[in-house]
Amino acid sequence: MTIVFSMLVRLFILQNIKFIMNIPEIKKICCIGAGYVGGPTMAVIAQKCPHIRVAVVDVNEQKIAQWNDNNLDNLPVYEPGLKEVVKEARGRNLFFSTDMDTEIDAADMVFISVNTPTKTYGKGKGMAADLKYIELSARKIAEVATSDKIVVEKSTIPIRTAQAVRKILANTGNGVNFQILSNPEFLAEGTAVSDLYNPDRVLIGGEESEDGKKAMDALTSVYNNWIPRERILQTNIWSSELSKLVANAFLAQRISSINAISALCEKTGANVDEVAKAIGMDTRIGAKFLKTSVGFGGSCFQKDILNLVYISRFYGLDEVAYYWESVIEINDYQKNRFADSIIIKLNNTLSDKKIAFLGWAFKKDTNDSRESAAIYVADRLMEDKGIIAVYDPKVGEKRMHDDINYLKTRDEEENDKLLQYYSDPYEAMKDAYAIAVLTEWDEFLDYDWQKVYDNMIKPAYVFDGRNLLNHEKLREIGFNVQGIGKVNK
Ligand SMILES: NC(=O)c1ccc[n+]([C@@H]2O[C@H](COP(=O)([O-])OP(=O)(O)OC[C@H]3O[C@@H](n4cnc5c(N)ncnc54)[C@H](O)[C@@H]3O)[C@@H](O)[C@H]2O)c1
Repeated sequence: MTIVFSMLVRLFILQNIKFIMNIPEIKKICCIGAGYVGGPTMAVIAQKCPHIRVAVVDVNEQKIAQWNDNNLDNLPVYEPGLKEVVKEARGRNLFFSTDMDTEIDAADMVFISVNTPTKTYGKGKGMAADLKYIELSARKIAEVATSDKIVVEKSTIPIRTAQAVRKILANTGNGVNFQILSNPEFLAEGTAVSDLYNPDRVLIGGEESEDGKKAMDALTSVYNNWIPRERILQTNIWSSELSKLVANAFLAQRISSINAISALCEKTGANVDEVAKAIGMDTRIGAKFLKTSVGFGGSCFQKDILNLVYISRFYGLDEVAYYWESVIEINDYQKNRFADSIIIKLNNTLSDKKIAFLGWAFKKDTNDSRESAAIYVADRLMEDKGIIAVYDPKVGEKRMHDDINYLKTRDEEENDKLLQYYSDPYEAMKDAYAIAVLTEWDEFLDYDWQKVYDNMIKPAYVFDGRNLLNHEKLREIGFNVQGIGKVNK
């Protein structure tokens, strides 16, 4: 009887929990996860808020050592302007550490900025977000916190994850109070620092209660050190969580839309760049994100759309799921179409033919190659026994091999033979049958293309997956050039 009563009381408390939080001015921040989001975001917060101590913690010791490296060229994330920010703040009020327990407990506010990849096992495999690292972070906070804290979800997560985090904190904590906020990050890799300096908006979702409002105001005051108040939006927590998935889905949808049209252009004689310009000047459409390409990559777009699809199916909204799924289908179609056009042009046989890849990163100005179109194009060409010679200014050899091995299409020994890394672009292109541009790095524009042509097997092909190069000039030199969404001469 007593046990039942105490269980009922406990249930009542959990359901009606109304934290009376002691939220001081934020003086100490801890961020769990020192990756592409956690690192740059915290570096900028530390730079802009010298009165706040910011500690970034991670389980990955090597990554933390790289963040602490005296040589700023060894930071684990490459972003224009990032090393200058780290140089200014590191050691002053920005610290990178593996001592998670101490830093979490010392903080007034704890950001969770861990990875949330697509599940590769069990229920929701290939679709749902894997929340393993979020859960581990929440459990760690609950385990070590001895004072009230605001916990901020910075990672991109499915709607209603805050509920799960709250449940863990309420059930396993040391009796301290937590407020959970959603504060999704909208930075784009390659422009992370300027996006963080000058974001279109900052989104903060919180509980609709007095404590929820106090917590949102506390985080607002941190950003308000450099971002105007009118650009900081406060919403309910579910709107905030969902908005991040929707923003990425809309951005990816624009790329798939223009890529679908690129295929039509190639058949009809229209030029996709001209079409993009013509429709982009319509202010209702807008000019951004209308650049055709070999397909979008990056760690976020695909995973976030899959997540949206999974959630829609979960709620029985099959038509909604199908609609968003088609954005990914067009992206896969575009990558395959690009690879197939290379195979066809090279007489349907790539065996022992060298094909030079310019670029491996998923976009310029980043060393991130997660889900890069280059990986999938290479894999398809390697199925045809093509030898892929890759040069990328920022992605290293190990990363490329890890990327291709991750697909498990063939054994690693075979991959080592077929995928070759070059640190010199001219060496990569020497004796190649074709060049494929996979990333829009600016430096490719400045190469001595006559020299490149002279050293290639003829006919010399260029497949420009970014419509980056000067096609007319290349044709004058003698190249056979194929862009995307244009009739190729
Ligand atoms: N990369 C982007 O452009 C971008 C933009 C906006 C939002 N996001 C979202 O931000 C989140 C983080 O993305 P990212 O690109 O920074 O990932 P990342 O893989 O670069 O970094 C995540 C880090 O978290 C660490 N980590 C994982 N579990 C941990 C744990 N239990 N304790 C301590 N550290 C742990 C990992 O070691 C890793 O260093 C994801 O949810 C992503 O969807 C990413």
